[in-house]
Amino acid sequence: MEELIQKVVELINQSRKVIVFTGAGVSTESGIPDFRSPGGIWQKYDPEDFYYQKFISSEESREKYWQMSREFYEPLKNAQPNAAHKAVVELEKMGKLDCVITQNIDNLHQRAGNSPEKVIELHGTAISVSCLSCRKKYTREEIQARLLKGVRVPKCDECGGILKPDTVSFGQSMPPKETAESFQRARNCDLLIVIGSSLVVQPAASIPLEAKDHGAKLVIINRDPTYHDSYADVVIHGSAGEVMKKILEKMK
Ligand code: APR
Repeated sequence: MEELIQKVVELINQSRKVIVFTGAGVSTESGIPDFRSPGGIWQKYDPEDFYYQKFISSEESREKYWQMSREFYEPLKNAQPNAAHKAVVELEKMGKLDCVITQNIDNLHQRAGNSPEKVIELHGTAISVSCLSCRKKYTREEIQARLLKGVRVPKCDECGGILKPDTVSFGQSMPPKETAESFQRARNCDLLIVIGSSLVVQPAASIPLEAKDHGAKLVIINRDPTYHDSYADVVIHGSAGEVMKKILEKMK
């Protein structure tokens, strides 16, 4: 492990533009479950039930969605950034960070102190909700209050339309600006560090390979093996918080 940590430190020292690419695994040490690990969200809920097309086409699907969302939002709202999030903030302070590309909807990179303009939320955010008809915005907090009072499917106060968190569901189109910018920056970085992602969901999982294909070095830090380990220059199977803390300690 020490040797691998040293290799990552050398790669960061040699780099001007470092991209950090994160998934749910960077936030499990903050108490938010990931999706595909034992005890993960997709172990408890069937992801097939949460496709966008189902959500907009039936009240029953929306009720199922909001029941899952009501439960998932509690650990998310109470979560605090952990050592891995804080290490990414340090990379920004060192002037090494080009951007954070995250699949996470938990806002923890921003809450840790990364500049919002440096965080690209590929799968949207869970902290705001929009009406799909009139686009009226709500905070997730106020909608959570309604759900906890027993509302099963919240509706828009303005037009009675369908409300949905500003996240990207399976089957929903990706945000064009964020997606294009992520691939563009990946093509122009020196080093991309993946932290806590199984790298199975597309198109996000192609971004680390785009960086590699355009000459960048690729580091993967993940508790379990990923589909892209064989492409990486350094692979560390360990806890995100512990590994990132050691990397920052060595850099200082
Ligand atoms: N430290 C390091 N790795 C961890 C830790 C940890 N503390 N906790 C979990 N992991 C790893 C797991 O081993 C797993 O491989 O993080 C990975 C998380 O993978 P997923 O649960 O598949 O999450 P993610 O890759 O972010 O999923 C991508 O899928 O469900 C959709 O939209 C959702 O954005 C999400 C996307």
